Parts: sequence; C-alpha cells; structure tokens
Amino acid sequence: MPNLGAILVLHPPHLLGEFRSQSSARIGATSVHASGSIFPPCVIGFRVCYRRCVRLPLAVWGAGGHARVVTDIVRCGSEFEVVGFLDDVNPGRRAQRFCDAPVLGGREQLDELKKSGIRHLILAFGDNHARRSLGHELVEAGFVLGRAFHPSAVIAKDTSILDGTVLMAGAVVNPGATIGKNAIINTGATVDHDCVLGEAVHLSPGVHLGGGVTVGDETWIGIGAVVLDGRTVRERSIVGAGAVVTHDLPHDVVAYGVPARVIRAR
Ligand SMILES: CC(C)(COP(=O)(O)OP(=O)(O)OC[C@H]1O[C@@H](n2cnc3c(N)ncnc32)[C@H](O)[C@@H]1OP(=O)(O)O)[C@@H](O)C(=O)NCCC(=O)NCCS
Repeated sequence: MPNLGAILVLHPPHLLGEFRSQSSARIGATSVHASGSIFPPCVIGFRVCYRRCVRLPLAVWGAGGHARVVTDIVRCGSEFEVVGFLDDVNPGRRAQRFCDAPVLGGREQLDELKKSGIRHLILAFGDNHARRSLGHELVEAGFVLGRAFHPSAVIAKDTSILDGTVLMAGAVVNPGATIGKNAIINTGATVDHDCVLGEAVHLSPGVHLGGGVTVGDETWIGIGAVVLDGRTVRERSIVGAGAVVTHDLPHDVVAYGVPARVIRAR
C-alpha cells in the first residue's frame, strides 16, 4: 500500500452497492467511475474495490461558489480526498475554513503540497484563460489535474474527456465527443455526438450543442445558449446567455441574440 499521507477509506464488500452508486456516472447499462474506468456489472471483486477506495489527496484551486460545486462533486466520488483550497485572490483567507477544509494559502504553497505528497489539483474557478495557463504551469511543475464527474452526468462510452475537466449534475456527453483539458460542462449542459471542445472551454448551465459542433479553446458559452449542429465557435469568444448560434462565429468576439450576432471584439 503506498504511503499517500491521506485518509484511506476502505469499503467492505457489503458496502459495495453504496460505493458504486456514489462513485459512478450513469452510462446506459454500465457504470463509469469518476476516473473514467468501466466497472463491468457483477464482477467487482473485493480486491478491485480495495484498490479503488484508496482516496488520493487533492487540493482545489479556488474558494468561491464554483469551487463549492466542484468540491461537492469530488466528494460524491471515491477517487479523491479534498485536503484544502488554494486562493490566490484573497491572501487573508489563509487558515480559514471553507467547505469543511482549510484554505491552505496561495501559489506559494505548491512546494509544500508536493513535499506532503499531494500531487493532484483541480482548478475550480471560471476564468478560462487563467485555468488554461495555470493548468499548463502545474503540469510542468509535476502536478496532475484531477477530473470530477457528477454521479448524474451521462457519458457515452466512445468519448474522450481530458484531465482537469468537470462535468456537473445532469451534464450529457454523447458518442464521439471530445473535450479538452480543464473544461467546465456546467449543470444540465449537453454535448451531442461528435462535438469537439478545446481546452478550458466553459459551457454554462443549460447550454445545448448540436451534433458535430466545434468550440475553440477558452470559449465561454453563456447560460441557456444553443449552438446548431455542425457550427463552429472559435477560440476565446463569448456567446451570451440565451443566444442561438446559427452561423459560425470567429475568435475573440462577444456574440449574442437570436440568431447570435457579433456585438463586439473582446
Ligand atoms: C454577453 C455578456 C457576457 C455581456 O456582454 P456585454 O456586452 O458586456 O453586455 P452588457 O452587460 O454591457 O450589456 C449591453 C447590452 O446588451 C444586452 N445584453 C447583454 N447580454 C445579452 C444577452 N445574452 N442577450 C441579449 N442581450 C444582451 C444588455 O441588455 C444591454 O442592452 P441595453 O444597452 O439595451 O441595456 C453577458 O450579458 C452574458 O450573456 N453573460 C453570460 C452569463 C452567464 O452565462 N452566466 C452563467 C455563468 S455559470
């Protein structure tokens, strides 16, 4: 057993049902663990469960409303134990409690985290550009970006969802879709078949992407917006709440309305 310096949560076989229901996102008749691996029904043995129930220590970067939601999702699963929060914005919050764990400090704590054996981080703030650049920095520094999938998220088998991405309650990712690193697929957002989402994309709650939509790196699609099938919204653009995207949108613009029109450059 590796010494992880973390709380080890071991589930005896009679708790397997509970363990599975808390840690699995729905996927048709099968289950997908938050780590993305598939547990074939009825073949989960004690050994497998024993290994899976070792929680890896993870720090959450961010300590606001979005971080609260991400933390809740992480705690629904069985892969990670949230050991604390990093907050670069408010240094005064250091040592305060947030979501039943300490605010550890800001980026100056990274070395300490490493020394304590904490290798996993999840970025839980809304600034797409910052999430992307910090994500690269952290990976270069040897950290691993965790993913968090709410148990009610529905993920088709034939999908690719990269490190650092969060799927919130009721999100749906359909077959053939690919989602880059550090994306946010917010509450009830749907990504239909064969969509391609870049890095650090944010689909706000209730966004619907038709089949074969492409969304560029760092693009933010506002709450309740719809993108018709096959359209492209290029990198770093913002699509306003409630928009209906009927034509491709260029990079670095703000667009909204029905149909969505480019309003201005970012
Ligand atoms: C598009 C957006 C980013 C702001 O763009 P902006 O150009 O800074 O907009 P402003 O707030 O300055 O408003 C400018 C005008 O556009 C209108 N407007 C803003 N957003 C709009 C939208 N989504 N659809 C239609 N009109 C909109 C405003 O009503 C305002 O009109 P007025 O001048 O007649 O009063 C923002 O309005 C938006 O839609 N954000 C998404 C919010 C969201 O999804 N939140 C969930 C996060 S999880």
